[in-house]
Amino acid sequence: MTTQQITLVQESFTWLKPIAQQAGELFYKNLFDTAPQARAMFKQPIAAQAGKLMYTLGYVVSHLHHPETILQDVAKLGQRHHQYGAQPAHYDIVGAVLLDTLAQGLGKRWNAELKQAWAMAYSMVANAMMEAASQESASAHRQAAVA
Ligand code: HEM
Repeated sequence: MTTQQITLVQESFTWLKPIAQQAGELFYKNLFDTAPQARAMFKQPIAAQAGKLMYTLGYVVSHLHHPETILQDVAKLGQRHHQYGAQPAHYDIVGAVLLDTLAQGLGKRWNAELKQAWAMAYSMVANAMMEAASQESASAHRQAAVA
């Protein structure tokens, strides 16, 4: 990501802060409208889930100047998502729904540059999560083969 893109993501996230919980809940509403079959994967109350998602986004956004830290930290999250049943195709859906939700939450402040910058940030995190998940699944297969 360019410095300009990092600034755009960080600035726009501060605009969302006052409505963070609503934005998180709107994200799940949009997700389940788009992919109703994903609803059954979520066992925790959505309000709590929305809080955790926004907290994680806040963490990522505040560390964009240190991508190596983010990549390390989201690896565990990616492995947990493997256990939750998240597949690569889900990551595309979640990314698209996230951008739509940001567009709704930011209203008139949303634009093409912001969309591009957020898409870059999302793919960095999503790719790191999927990479960690695929490594975990490869190592589980190796262990199963040995056992
Ligand atoms: C960059 C993308 C994503 C981020 C930042 C993210 C973040 C989170 C966080 C912070 C949690 C809380 C639990 C934990 O820390 O393990 C969580 C849970 C979960 N996420 Fe994600 N997630 C992402 C993508 C996805 C995708 C693509 C799916 C696929 C449908 C998914 C499905 C789930 C499920 C099923 C749970 C567990 C909910 C429960 O136990 O009720 N997530 N996610």
